[in-house]
Amino acid sequence: MTGNPTTDRDVVVIGAGAAGLMCALKAGARGRGVLVLDHANKVGKKILMSGGGRCNFTNIHSTPEHFLSANPHFCKSALSRYTPWDFIALVEKHGVPFHEKKLGQLFCDRSSKDIVSLLLAECEAVGVEVRTHSPAEIEQLGPPHCLKVDSETIHCESLVIATGGYSIPRMGATGFGFDLARSLGLAIQPTRAALVPFVLEGRKLDQIEGLAGISVDTASEASGATFRENILFTHKGLSGPAMLQVSSYWQPGEPVTIDLLPDLDLVQHLRNARRQRPRTHLKNVLVEHLPRRLVQRWCELWLGDRPMAEIGDEEIANIAGHLKPWRVWPADTEGYRTAEVTLGGIDTDALSSKTMECRDHPGLFFIGEVVDVTGHLGGHNFQWAWASGHAAGQVV
Ligand code: FDA
Repeated sequence: MTGNPTTDRDVVVIGAGAAGLMCALKAGARGRGVLVLDHANKVGKKILMSGGGRCNFTNIHSTPEHFLSANPHFCKSALSRYTPWDFIALVEKHGVPFHEKKLGQLFCDRSSKDIVSLLLAECEAVGVEVRTHSPAEIEQLGPPHCLKVDSETIHCESLVIATGGYSIPRMGATGFGFDLARSLGLAIQPTRAALVPFVLEGRKLDQIEGLAGISVDTASEASGATFRENILFTHKGLSGPAMLQVSSYWQPGEPVTIDLLPDLDLVQHLRNARRQRPRTHLKNVLVEHLPRRLVQRWCELWLGDRPMAEIGDEEIANIAGHLKPWRVWPADTEGYRTAEVTLGGIDTDALSSKTMECRDHPGLFFIGEVVDVTGHLGGHNFQWAWASGHAAGQVV
């Protein structure tokens, strides 16, 4: 008699990204029979494209305060049991050269490929099978769970969903995990693009015309969260680390507040300049601290340009008001097309913070970005992927 092949596995992980591969290698190391399925043509595509091709794989200062979640306590358990130093030890074990760029952000010296290679080597060493081009269909939740993969039927005791979020659909992102959660009646915290550039429209976009490519050190704020990082003017609006960071907090219709001179008491500085160099033009005072093109534009739009001696106290206050802070009302963000992560996701109330297992569905686990835990820019999102993958990998 012929029929579709049926196989049994201890663990099936759907999604061969950072979280899925970490979970697989940890479960494999415990002697579990693990199969990882990914519908894409390559594993770890986001790892490969991350950090400008050098993968900012962790952050040595990562703490629970670097994560957004409806329940800020949820991430603590997993993060405390798999720290940046644990991942660094793995990187060192494989002889991958790396460096700290800034603010505790660790990058590969050579290429993100080193991180994918080390994860695959670890998986191989413990007998994990990784299949690409393999979209999975869940036929029935168990345990045992029953999956259909092409014409094969697979039963497993533990099913791990590590399919990530919606960001960068062309890299294989799908709403698989969210759809499954919804079909099971699990709550989902509203999802939206985060760590994403802002788009300006109309007059606001015209105001920054000609500034694309300029980068400025700022203190940028949205909804009470402030980041001391650079902004980057683009042809569409604003990007750069400061803007990506505040995009995770920004609410549509709200302004983003950008202090363009965070280290300067501008009012005092302009008063001093007026006293000490009365014939110097405002523009020339400002270009000592800001890019010339930006100063030029600000003078055309708002500040004017006269000798300091002609500028009264009220006008100085007005000038400072356009720079400290500059308030911008973004029309939107660039959305999932360019977002590094998806904010929101599966409500953590549905999961055990220790194991990532679904409270109402034994043997079903959600890890990584699909869960409502979103890190700041700078290696924190991978740290969450490693830590949540490790937590599940201990028990699946
Ligand atoms: P991830 O998205 O990595 O993996 C999910 C996997 O599931 C994918 O392989 C996908 O193909 C697969 N999949 C989806 N649907 C499926 C289905 N239906 N069936 C089968 N497989 C399916 N973070 C950081 O800490 N440092 C950094 O430097 C960067 N840089 C960066 C740059 C860019 C451009 C992006 C887009 C993102 C980053 N990030 C980052 C964020 C980081 O990449 C992200 O947080 C992690 O990759 C999330 O890991 P996961 O394993 O949860 O999902």
